[in-house]
Amino acid sequence: MTVPVIAIDGPSGSGKGAVASAVAARLGFHLLDSGALYRILGVAAHRTGLDFSDSGALSELAANLEIEFGRTGPDSVHLAGEDISTEIRTDLGSRLASEVGAIPAARQALHERQLAFRQPPGLVADGRDMGTVVFPDALLKIFLTASVEERAQRRYKQLIAKGIDAILPDLLRDLNERDARDSQRSVSPLKPAADAIVLDTTELPLPAVIEKVMDLVHERLPGTPS
Ligand code: DC
Repeated sequence: MTVPVIAIDGPSGSGKGAVASAVAARLGFHLLDSGALYRILGVAAHRTGLDFSDSGALSELAANLEIEFGRTGPDSVHLAGEDISTEIRTDLGSRLASEVGAIPAARQALHERQLAFRQPPGLVADGRDMGTVVFPDALLKIFLTASVEERAQRRYKQLIAKGIDAILPDLLRDLNERDARDSQRSVSPLKPAADAIVLDTTELPLPAVIEKVMDLVHERLPGTPS
């Protein structure tokens, strides 16, 4: 039997990470945070001073990254034994990930790694191209959206809650830049799969989005945990 995949795609701040991890936990499925892979590659390339236009070097680096998820907690990420969980979530980490994501050789190199996450009893995969490119045969494809203003507000609240200074107009500008780069790139641009269900979360609180996705999962996979 093929291992079921639930693909959750969407732009930054659409809530896909939170929805994907909650749905995976409730179903007892594995979780792929594909954005984390792009973030790790971006940070690793930046640290080594690698020239992003050198596709060969970038592929080699991607193929050899020693990544470990979840060693010290659900969101922890280690690179060659070093905890880089916080570093990959900084604004620089976001920008580097988006830049690396626009390079075809980097996407190619990370493709196999993403497929390896498909293990029984199932996988919830979050990203930009889970339903279009990486898992085109996903059982359920969700595309989450929200207005850019709402997404910037969410990011602002998250940062302030963590005690990090933030300027709303700067966050809005960064999100617009990242959206443009992610949607306009030639390879795997951010767009809903033809058979994706698009959910606008601008007015929908997180618990309601999670329930909606769980309902859709149960329609397609009767008998899975609730
Ligand atoms: O989901 P995230 O915000 O952690 O992703 C960070 C960046 O990584 C995003 O701006 C574009 C890139 N990315 C990608 O190109 N393809 C994916 N499947 C996931 C992320």
